[in-house]
Amino acid sequence: MKVPLLDLKRQYSVIKDEIKVAINDTLESQCFILGPVVAEFERQMAEYTGSKGAVGVSSGTDALLLALMALGVGAGDEVITSAFTFGATVGTIQRLGGVPVFADIDPDTYNINPDDIEKRVTSKTKAIMPVHIYGQCADMDKISAIAEKHGLKIIEDSAQAAGSKYKGKKAGSLGDLSGYSFFPSKNLGAYGDAGMVTCNSEDYVEKLKVLRQHGAKEKYYHREIGINGRLDALQAAVLTVKLKYLDEWCDARRERAAYYTKKFEGASIKTPVIDKNNTHIFHQYVIRVKDRDGLFKRLGEKGVGSAMYYPQPMHLQESLKEFGFKEGDLPETESAANETLALPMFPELTESEQDYVVETVNDFYSGK
Ligand SMILES: Cc1ncc(COP(=O)(O)O)c(C=O)c1O
Repeated sequence: MKVPLLDLKRQYSVIKDEIKVAINDTLESQCFILGPVVAEFERQMAEYTGSKGAVGVSSGTDALLLALMALGVGAGDEVITSAFTFGATVGTIQRLGGVPVFADIDPDTYNINPDDIEKRVTSKTKAIMPVHIYGQCADMDKISAIAEKHGLKIIEDSAQAAGSKYKGKKAGSLGDLSGYSFFPSKNLGAYGDAGMVTCNSEDYVEKLKVLRQHGAKEKYYHREIGINGRLDALQAAVLTVKLKYLDEWCDARRERAAYYTKKFEGASIKTPVIDKNNTHIFHQYVIRVKDRDGLFKRLGEKGVGSAMYYPQPMHLQESLKEFGFKEGDLPETESAANETLALPMFPELTESEQDYVVETVNDFYSGK
């Protein structure tokens, strides 16, 4: 049997007709850059996330970059974040001349550990950027309390967390600004690159709309230095169709996660820990194991897709060597990077496929 890590074709086969209509309508309109379809999707996302406003942008990376720009993060400003993340979280800070400062993670949820954040606050700290890793929100009450105490802003990296909730509130409404990614493999995925910034004030909406369009409110009159970071109408049309299904898809992922966890009962692996405040959306179902690399190899040989998110933590990346981090600086982050593995997870995954994945993992640990 072959079980892919992700199969987007199964989802497409269900929504194909609606998608084709939405794309065709956009083609007929010949309006591709911003316009009414983008504005409507922004309205729906603000409503869905419970945010004051949402601004469509070209990718999750640009969402984080623009959020940092909206806060005025620049040379020498420190941003506290997690090193157990995708490169864009950190690269965007560096691109602006900012300094990434890393707090270690919680070994159960893999999210940033708030107790480690406060120790890292200095007079140069401007913001905290928690990453809602794998689709489970970070410990936002504690993070917000630290931010308030020290006068810091919060940018949520919600790239993996479309639909995720903390104490009943959606990711994207828990900080000052938040960056979503609609990369095709995400729970809410476009058919190309796309992203969104959600935020808690109209002022940010206004600022972001200028920044995503070359820093110009009025065409050819540039107020400040911006980027070309707009969401295009074809992606917004696809995303508007898909948003209607998002909760249903997240429920299906949660059911499949619960099924894996039940089937792994008694096995010598650690299954995902869901914090009591969270509604996890299982962008990834990640297990923690001994001999991770051996398991990865075995799964591949047996036709099961799996992936390491992330094999090399950010503080040990070559692109950060100027900061002089070394192994041992973030022990929990480094252990997680060596011991975690994502298993196949998507809403259409079947029970027999899951049974085969569990059996293949269990066989590996029982020496078969
Ligand atoms: C945690 C995290 N942050 C940022 C990004 C960047 O998003 P994009 O690929 O849409 O630029 C991703 C996407 O993989 C991500 O997983």
